Amino acid sequence: MSMILPGSTIGIIGGGQLARMMILEGRKMGYHFVIVDPAQDCASHDIANDQIVASWSSLNAALQLAKVCDVITVDTEHVAWQSIQAIEDQVPAYPSSIVLKNVQDRLSQRDFLQKLDIAQTPYVNVESIDELRNAIDQVGLPCVLKTRTSGYDGKGQAVIKDKDDIHVAWDKIGRVPAIVEGFVDFQDEVSVLVARTRVNSQVRIATYPLAKNIHRKHILHKTVVPAGYPENIEKNCFQFAHKIVDAFDYIGIMAIEMFVTKQGEVLVNEIAPRTHNSGHFTYGGCVTSQFEQQIRAITGQSLGATTLIEPVVMVNLLGDLWKEDINFQTLMQTPGVTLHLYDKHPAKPGRKMGHFLVQGQDIEALSAKADDLYNQLT
Ligand SMILES: Nc1ncnc2c1ncn2[C@@H]1O[C@H](COP(=O)(O)OP(=O)(O)O)[C@@H](O)[C@H]1O
Ligand SMILES: [Mg+2]
Repeated sequence: MSMILPGSTIGIIGGGQLARMMILEGRKMGYHFVIVDPAQDCASHDIANDQIVASWSSLNAALQLAKVCDVITVDTEHVAWQSIQAIEDQVPAYPSSIVLKNVQDRLSQRDFLQKLDIAQTPYVNVESIDELRNAIDQVGLPCVLKTRTSGYDGKGQAVIKDKDDIHVAWDKIGRVPAIVEGFVDFQDEVSVLVARTRVNSQVRIATYPLAKNIHRKHILHKTVVPAGYPENIEKNCFQFAHKIVDAFDYIGIMAIEMFVTKQGEVLVNEIAPRTHNSGHFTYGGCVTSQFEQQIRAITGQSLGATTLIEPVVMVNLLGDLWKEDINFQTLMQTPGVTLHLYDKHPAKPGRKMGHFLVQGQDIEALSAKADDLYNQLT
Protein backbone atom coordinates (compact mmCIF):
# COMPACT_ATOMS: atom_id res chain seq x y z
CA MET A 1 0.00 0.00 0.00
CA SER A 2 1.18 3.51 -0.69
CA MET A 3 1.45 6.20 1.95
CA ILE A 4 -1.33 8.75 2.23
CA LEU A 5 0.36 11.98 3.23
CA PRO A 6 -0.93 14.80 5.48
CA GLY A 7 -3.15 17.18 3.56
CA SER A 8 -4.91 14.20 1.94
CA THR A 9 -8.60 13.55 2.41
CA ILE A 10 -10.00 10.57 4.29
CA GLY A 11 -13.59 9.47 3.60
CA ILE A 12 -15.61 7.90 6.39
CA ILE A 13 -18.89 6.13 5.72
CA GLY A 14 -20.96 6.68 8.86
CA GLY A 15 -20.79 9.90 10.86
CA GLY A 16 -21.40 8.63 14.39
CA GLN A 17 -19.19 8.90 17.47
CA LEU A 18 -16.54 6.55 16.07
CA ALA A 19 -16.12 8.78 13.02
CA ARG A 20 -16.11 11.81 15.30
CA MET A 21 -13.23 10.48 17.38
CA MET A 22 -11.31 9.37 14.25
CA ILE A 23 -11.66 12.90 12.90
CA LEU A 24 -10.54 14.48 16.20
CA GLU A 25 -7.41 12.31 16.10
CA GLY A 26 -6.82 12.54 12.34
CA ARG A 27 -7.04 16.31 12.18
CA LYS A 28 -4.05 16.66 14.49
CA MET A 29 -2.05 14.77 11.83
CA GLY A 30 -3.17 17.18 9.10
CA TYR A 31 -5.79 15.08 7.31
CA HIS A 32 -9.11 16.31 5.95
CA PHE A 33 -12.35 14.39 6.31
CA VAL A 34 -15.50 13.85 4.28
CA ILE A 35 -18.27 11.79 5.88
CA VAL A 36 -21.33 10.02 4.50
CA ASP A 37 -24.33 9.96 6.83
CA PRO A 38 -28.09 10.31 6.29
CA ALA A 39 -28.44 12.55 9.36
CA GLN A 40 -27.48 16.14 8.68
CA ASP A 41 -26.82 16.63 12.40
CA CYS A 42 -24.87 13.40 13.02
CA ALA A 43 -22.13 13.36 15.68
CA SER A 44 -19.41 14.31 13.16
CA HIS A 45 -21.24 16.94 11.13
CA ASP A 46 -19.62 19.98 12.69
CA ILE A 47 -16.05 18.68 12.70
CA ALA A 48 -15.90 17.00 9.28
CA ASN A 49 -14.70 19.21 6.41
CA ASP A 50 -17.62 18.05 4.32
CA GLN A 51 -20.61 15.72 4.46
CA ILE A 52 -22.47 13.79 1.81
CA VAL A 53 -26.00 13.39 3.15
CA ALA A 54 -26.96 9.90 2.03
CA SER A 55 -27.50 6.42 3.41
CA TRP A 56 -24.38 4.48 4.41
CA SER A 57 -24.98 1.96 1.63
CA SER A 58 -25.70 4.45 -1.15
CA LEU A 59 -23.75 3.58 -4.29
CA ASN A 60 -23.97 7.16 -5.50
CA ALA A 61 -22.49 8.46 -2.29
CA ALA A 62 -19.64 5.93 -2.50
CA LEU A 63 -18.89 7.02 -6.09
CA GLN A 64 -18.94 10.67 -5.03
CA LEU A 65 -16.71 9.93 -2.05
CA ALA A 66 -14.20 8.05 -4.24
CA LYS A 67 -13.78 11.19 -6.38
CA VAL A 68 -12.82 13.44 -3.47
CA CYS A 69 -10.95 11.07 -1.11
CA ASP A 70 -7.51 9.44 -1.04
CA VAL A 71 -8.58 6.58 1.23
CA ILE A 72 -11.89 5.39 2.64
CA THR A 73 -12.91 3.81 5.93
CA VAL A 74 -16.13 3.24 7.88
CA ASP A 75 -17.57 3.76 11.35
CA THR A 76 -20.09 0.93 10.88
CA GLU A 77 -19.97 -2.48 9.23
CA HIS A 78 -23.50 -1.96 7.92
CA VAL A 79 -22.32 -0.53 4.61
CA ALA A 80 -23.29 -2.47 1.48
CA TRP A 81 -20.15 -4.35 0.43
CA GLN A 82 -21.25 -3.85 -3.17
CA SER A 83 -20.82 -0.07 -2.81
CA ILE A 84 -17.26 -0.55 -1.57
CA GLN A 85 -16.54 -3.08 -4.30
CA ALA A 86 -17.64 -0.54 -6.90
CA ILE A 87 -14.98 1.99 -5.83
CA GLU A 88 -12.09 -0.20 -4.70
CA ASP A 89 -10.21 0.09 -7.95
CA GLN A 90 -10.35 3.91 -7.72
CA VAL A 91 -9.45 4.42 -4.08
CA PRO A 92 -8.21 2.13 -1.31
CA ALA A 93 -10.95 1.16 1.16
CA TYR A 94 -10.32 -0.35 4.59
CA PRO A 95 -12.15 -2.58 5.41
CA SER A 96 -12.28 -4.03 1.90
CA SER A 97 -15.51 -5.27 0.32
CA ILE A 98 -14.39 -8.86 0.96
CA VAL A 99 -14.00 -8.22 4.67
CA LEU A 100 -17.39 -6.47 4.84
CA LYS A 101 -19.10 -9.24 2.91
CA ASN A 102 -17.74 -11.87 5.29
CA VAL A 103 -18.44 -9.94 8.45
CA GLN A 104 -21.83 -8.28 7.97
CA ASP A 105 -23.65 -11.57 7.59
CA ARG A 106 -23.41 -13.50 10.88
CA LEU A 107 -23.57 -16.82 9.04
CA SER A 108 -20.63 -16.08 6.74
CA GLN A 109 -18.75 -14.62 9.69
CA ARG A 110 -19.19 -17.82 11.70
CA ASP A 111 -18.37 -19.99 8.65
CA PHE A 112 -15.21 -17.94 8.15
CA LEU A 113 -14.17 -18.49 11.78
CA GLN A 114 -14.94 -22.17 11.51
CA LYS A 115 -12.69 -22.54 8.47
CA LEU A 116 -9.89 -20.97 10.51
CA ASP A 117 -10.52 -23.53 13.26
CA ILE A 118 -11.33 -20.82 15.79
CA ALA A 119 -13.33 -21.96 18.83
CA GLN A 120 -16.91 -20.65 18.94
CA THR A 121 -20.33 -21.68 20.20
CA PRO A 122 -22.27 -24.15 17.97
CA TYR A 123 -24.51 -22.39 15.41
CA VAL A 124 -27.04 -23.32 12.74
CA ASN A 125 -28.53 -21.33 9.85
CA VAL A 126 -32.35 -20.98 10.08
CA GLU A 127 -34.75 -19.61 7.50
CA SER A 128 -38.09 -20.83 8.81
CA ILE A 129 -39.77 -21.78 12.06
CA ASP A 130 -39.42 -25.47 11.22
CA GLU A 131 -35.70 -25.05 10.65
CA LEU A 132 -35.54 -23.19 13.97
CA ARG A 133 -37.18 -26.10 15.75
CA ASN A 134 -34.70 -28.57 14.24
CA ALA A 135 -31.77 -26.26 14.97
CA ILE A 136 -32.66 -26.17 18.64
CA ASP A 137 -32.30 -29.95 18.74
CA GLN A 138 -28.75 -29.45 17.52
CA VAL A 139 -27.54 -26.53 19.67
CA GLY A 140 -29.65 -27.24 22.77
CA LEU A 141 -31.46 -24.92 25.18
CA PRO A 142 -31.07 -22.14 26.13
CA CYS A 143 -29.99 -20.68 22.81
CA VAL A 144 -29.82 -17.29 21.09
CA LEU A 145 -31.58 -16.45 17.83
CA LYS A 146 -29.86 -13.65 15.85
CA THR A 147 -30.75 -12.03 12.53
CA ARG A 148 -28.02 -12.67 9.99
CA THR A 149 -27.68 -9.01 9.06
CA SER A 150 -28.14 -5.51 10.56
CA GLY A 151 -27.94 -6.49 14.24
CA TYR A 152 -26.15 -4.33 16.84
CA ASP A 153 -26.36 -3.70 20.58
CA GLY A 154 -28.51 -6.81 20.97
CA LYS A 155 -31.02 -5.65 18.35
CA GLY A 156 -32.33 -8.47 16.18
CA GLN A 157 -31.76 -11.05 18.92
CA ALA A 158 -33.93 -13.24 21.10
CA VAL A 159 -32.95 -15.70 23.82
CA ILE A 160 -34.92 -18.96 23.70
CA LYS A 161 -35.10 -20.73 27.05
CA ASP A 162 -37.95 -23.08 26.35
CA LYS A 163 -39.43 -24.71 23.24
CA ASP A 164 -42.61 -22.71 23.96
CA ASP A 165 -40.66 -19.48 23.28
CA ILE A 166 -39.99 -20.38 19.64
CA HIS A 167 -42.90 -18.46 18.09
CA VAL A 168 -42.34 -15.34 20.18
CA ALA A 169 -38.62 -15.36 19.33
CA TRP A 170 -39.22 -15.87 15.60
CA ASP A 171 -41.71 -12.98 15.58
CA LYS A 172 -39.41 -10.79 17.67
CA ILE A 173 -36.59 -10.95 15.13
CA GLY A 174 -39.05 -10.26 12.30
CA ARG A 175 -39.08 -13.76 10.70
CA VAL A 176 -35.96 -13.13 8.67
CA PRO A 177 -32.95 -15.36 7.87
CA ALA A 178 -31.09 -15.91 11.11
CA ILE A 179 -28.66 -18.09 12.98
CA VAL A 180 -29.32 -19.85 16.22
CA GLU A 181 -26.43 -20.23 18.64
CA GLY A 182 -25.79 -22.22 21.76
CA PHE A 183 -26.07 -19.96 24.83
CA VAL A 184 -22.67 -19.51 26.45
CA ASP A 185 -22.73 -19.48 30.24
CA PHE A 186 -19.64 -17.31 30.29
CA GLN A 187 -17.43 -16.17 33.14
CA ASP A 188 -16.60 -12.91 31.34
CA GLU A 189 -16.80 -11.14 28.03
CA VAL A 190 -13.49 -9.81 26.77
CA SER A 191 -12.32 -8.10 23.61
CA VAL A 192 -9.10 -7.76 21.71
CA LEU A 193 -8.33 -4.71 19.61
CA VAL A 194 -5.69 -5.32 17.02
CA ALA A 195 -4.25 -3.06 14.34
CA ARG A 196 -2.58 -4.39 11.23
CA THR A 197 -0.93 -2.55 8.36
CA ARG A 198 1.88 -2.69 5.83
CA VAL A 199 4.82 -0.31 5.87
CA ASN A 200 7.03 -0.66 2.76
CA SER A 201 5.27 -4.01 2.17
CA GLN A 202 6.25 -5.26 5.65
CA VAL A 203 3.29 -6.41 7.75
CA ARG A 204 3.03 -4.64 11.12
CA ILE A 205 0.70 -5.72 13.91
CA ALA A 206 -0.06 -3.94 17.18
CA THR A 207 -2.29 -5.44 19.85
CA TYR A 208 -3.92 -3.60 22.75
CA PRO A 209 -4.16 -5.09 26.24
CA LEU A 210 -7.05 -7.49 26.78
CA ALA A 211 -10.23 -5.67 27.89
CA LYS A 212 -12.96 -7.10 30.14
CA ASN A 213 -16.46 -5.95 29.17
CA ILE A 214 -19.64 -5.81 31.22
CA HIS A 215 -22.90 -5.51 29.27
CA ARG A 216 -26.33 -4.35 30.42
CA LYS A 217 -29.33 -5.25 28.29
CA HIS A 218 -26.90 -6.47 25.57
CA ILE A 219 -25.25 -3.03 25.37
CA LEU A 220 -21.71 -2.43 26.59
CA HIS A 221 -21.81 -0.76 30.01
CA LYS A 222 -18.26 -0.91 31.32
CA THR A 223 -14.76 -1.90 30.19
CA VAL A 224 -12.03 -2.77 32.67
CA VAL A 225 -8.33 -2.89 31.76
CA PRO A 226 -6.26 -4.83 32.70
CA ALA A 227 -8.76 -7.67 32.45
CA GLY A 228 -6.84 -9.64 35.07
CA TYR A 229 -6.57 -12.92 33.20
CA PRO A 230 -3.59 -15.29 33.42
CA GLU A 231 -1.07 -15.22 30.61
CA ASN A 232 -2.24 -18.45 28.96
CA ILE A 233 -5.81 -17.16 28.48
CA GLU A 234 -4.56 -13.80 27.21
CA LYS A 235 -2.26 -15.59 24.80
CA ASN A 236 -5.16 -17.66 23.52
CA CYS A 237 -7.22 -14.48 22.88
CA PHE A 238 -4.35 -12.76 21.06
CA GLN A 239 -3.61 -15.82 18.92
CA PHE A 240 -7.23 -15.93 17.72
CA ALA A 241 -7.15 -12.21 16.94
CA HIS A 242 -3.91 -12.46 14.96
CA LYS A 243 -5.14 -15.48 13.02
CA ILE A 244 -8.27 -13.54 11.98
CA VAL A 245 -6.52 -10.36 10.82
CA ASP A 246 -3.87 -12.36 8.95
CA ALA A 247 -6.51 -14.49 7.21
CA PHE A 248 -8.17 -11.33 5.89
CA ASP A 249 -4.82 -9.69 5.08
CA TYR A 250 -6.49 -6.94 7.05
CA ILE A 251 -5.57 -3.25 7.16
CA GLY A 252 -6.87 -1.16 10.05
CA ILE A 253 -8.27 -1.74 13.52
CA MET A 254 -10.35 -4.82 14.20
CA ALA A 255 -12.19 -5.60 17.43
CA ILE A 256 -12.82 -9.22 18.34
CA GLU A 257 -15.38 -9.96 21.06
CA MET A 258 -14.86 -13.19 22.95
CA PHE A 259 -16.39 -15.17 25.80
CA VAL A 260 -14.21 -16.76 28.48
CA THR A 261 -16.15 -19.75 29.80
CA LYS A 262 -16.17 -20.86 33.42
CA GLN A 263 -13.75 -23.60 32.39
CA GLY A 264 -11.32 -21.02 30.99
CA GLU A 265 -12.05 -21.79 27.33
CA VAL A 266 -12.00 -18.87 24.89
CA LEU A 267 -14.83 -18.68 22.29
CA VAL A 268 -15.00 -15.94 19.66
CA ASN A 269 -18.40 -14.20 19.71
CA GLU A 270 -18.17 -11.65 16.93
CA ILE A 271 -15.78 -9.46 15.02
CA ALA A 272 -16.09 -5.80 14.08
CA PRO A 273 -13.91 -4.48 11.23
CA ARG A 274 -13.56 -1.00 12.74
CA THR A 275 -12.86 0.95 15.89
CA HIS A 276 -15.06 -0.28 18.71
CA ASN A 277 -16.86 0.87 21.85
CA SER A 278 -14.83 -1.57 23.97
CA GLY A 279 -11.70 0.25 22.73
CA HIS A 280 -12.69 3.68 24.06
CA PHE A 281 -10.38 3.11 27.04
CA THR A 282 -7.46 3.53 24.62
CA TYR A 283 -8.45 7.17 23.98
CA GLY A 284 -6.66 8.65 26.96
CA GLY A 285 -5.76 5.28 28.48
CA CYS A 286 -3.09 4.10 26.00
CA VAL A 287 -0.14 5.81 24.36
CA THR A 288 -1.94 5.63 20.99
CA SER A 289 -5.76 5.69 20.85
CA GLN A 290 -7.61 3.23 18.64
CA PHE A 291 -8.74 6.23 16.56
CA GLU A 292 -5.24 7.53 15.90
CA GLN A 293 -4.17 3.94 15.23
CA GLN A 294 -6.88 3.50 12.60
CA ILE A 295 -5.71 6.65 10.82
CA ARG A 296 -2.08 5.51 11.04
CA ALA A 297 -2.94 2.04 9.70
CA ILE A 298 -5.00 3.15 6.70
CA THR A 299 -2.51 5.84 5.68
CA GLY A 300 0.45 3.44 5.73
CA GLN A 301 2.22 4.95 8.75
CA SER A 302 4.03 2.92 11.36
CA LEU A 303 1.68 1.86 14.15
CA GLY A 304 1.78 3.66 17.49
CA ALA A 305 2.56 2.07 20.85
CA THR A 306 -0.41 0.29 22.43
CA THR A 307 1.00 0.51 25.96
CA LEU A 308 -1.53 1.06 28.75
CA ILE A 309 -0.58 4.23 30.64
CA GLU A 310 -2.22 3.08 33.87
CA PRO A 311 -5.22 0.92 34.84
CA VAL A 312 -8.45 2.31 33.42
CA VAL A 313 -12.22 1.80 33.57
CA MET A 314 -14.54 3.09 30.82
CA VAL A 315 -18.26 3.57 31.45
CA ASN A 316 -20.79 4.25 28.67
CA LEU A 317 -23.34 7.03 29.06
CA LEU A 318 -26.61 6.15 27.33
CA GLY A 319 -29.48 8.50 26.54
CA ASP A 320 -31.55 6.94 29.34
CA LEU A 321 -29.53 9.02 31.82
CA TRP A 322 -30.64 12.27 30.18
CA LYS A 323 -34.30 11.72 31.07
CA GLU A 324 -33.97 14.21 33.87
CA ASP A 325 -31.49 17.01 34.01
CA ILE A 326 -28.13 15.29 33.98
CA ASN A 327 -25.47 16.80 36.20
CA PHE A 328 -21.82 16.10 35.36
CA GLN A 329 -20.42 18.30 38.10
CA THR A 330 -19.17 15.59 40.49
CA LEU A 331 -17.71 13.59 37.63
CA MET A 332 -15.88 16.60 36.28
CA GLN A 333 -14.53 17.58 39.68
CA THR A 334 -13.15 14.14 40.50
CA PRO A 335 -9.41 13.71 39.87
CA GLY A 336 -8.45 10.94 37.44
CA VAL A 337 -11.79 11.15 35.61
CA THR A 338 -12.24 12.25 31.98
CA LEU A 339 -15.65 12.92 30.43
CA HIS A 340 -16.21 12.42 26.68
CA LEU A 341 -19.44 13.60 25.05
CA TYR A 342 -20.37 13.04 21.41
CA ASP A 343 -22.64 16.08 20.90
CA LYS A 344 -25.52 13.86 19.78
CA HIS A 345 -29.08 15.15 19.80
CA PRO A 346 -31.64 14.21 20.95
CA ALA A 347 -30.88 11.85 23.83
CA LYS A 348 -32.87 8.64 23.42
CA PRO A 349 -32.98 5.46 25.53
CA GLY A 350 -30.15 3.15 24.47
CA ARG A 351 -28.44 5.85 22.39
CA LYS A 352 -24.71 6.18 23.07
CA MET A 353 -24.22 9.81 24.14
CA GLY A 354 -20.77 9.70 25.71
CA HIS A 355 -18.51 7.84 28.10
CA PHE A 356 -16.10 8.53 30.93
CA LEU A 357 -12.74 7.12 31.91
CA VAL A 358 -11.49 6.58 35.44
CA GLN A 359 -7.72 6.15 35.66
CA GLY A 360 -5.45 5.32 38.56
CA GLN A 361 -3.58 2.46 40.16
CA ASP A 362 -5.75 -0.16 41.82
CA ILE A 363 -8.21 -1.66 39.33
CA GLU A 364 -10.66 -2.89 42.00
CA ALA A 365 -10.81 0.57 43.57
CA LEU A 366 -11.18 2.21 40.12
CA SER A 367 -14.04 -0.07 39.23
CA ALA A 368 -15.86 0.76 42.48
CA LYS A 369 -15.17 4.48 41.94
CA ALA A 370 -16.59 4.23 38.40
CA ASP A 371 -19.76 2.52 39.68
CA ASP A 372 -20.16 5.15 42.35
CA LEU A 373 -19.80 8.03 39.86
CA TYR A 374 -22.19 6.34 37.45
CA ASN A 375 -24.79 5.80 40.17
CA GLN A 376 -24.65 9.47 41.06
CA LEU A 377 -25.79 10.26 37.52
CA THR A 378 -28.86 8.03 37.66
N1 LIG B 1 -24.38 -17.16 22.31
C1 LIG B 1 -24.46 -16.30 23.33
N2 LIG B 1 -24.45 -16.74 24.61
C2 LIG B 1 -24.58 -15.88 25.65
N3 LIG B 1 -24.69 -14.55 25.52
C3 LIG B 1 -24.72 -14.04 24.28
C4 LIG B 1 -24.59 -14.88 23.11
N4 LIG B 1 -24.63 -14.10 22.02
C5 LIG B 1 -24.76 -12.83 22.47
N5 LIG B 1 -24.81 -12.78 23.81
C6 LIG B 1 -24.92 -11.54 24.63
O1 LIG B 1 -25.51 -10.50 23.87
C7 LIG B 1 -24.56 -9.44 23.62
C8 LIG B 1 -24.74 -8.89 22.21
O2 LIG B 1 -24.58 -9.93 21.26
P1 LIG B 1 -23.57 -9.86 20.04
O3 LIG B 1 -23.51 -11.20 19.41
O4 LIG B 1 -22.27 -9.30 20.50
O5 LIG B 1 -24.31 -8.90 19.03
P2 LIG B 1 -24.30 -7.32 18.84
O6 LIG B 1 -23.23 -6.75 19.73
O7 LIG B 1 -23.98 -7.17 17.39
O8 LIG B 1 -25.67 -6.89 19.19
C9 LIG B 1 -23.20 -10.09 23.86
O9 LIG B 1 -22.23 -9.13 24.18
C10 LIG B 1 -23.54 -11.04 25.00
O10 LIG B 1 -23.64 -10.33 26.22
MG1 LIG C 1 -21.33 -7.50 20.16
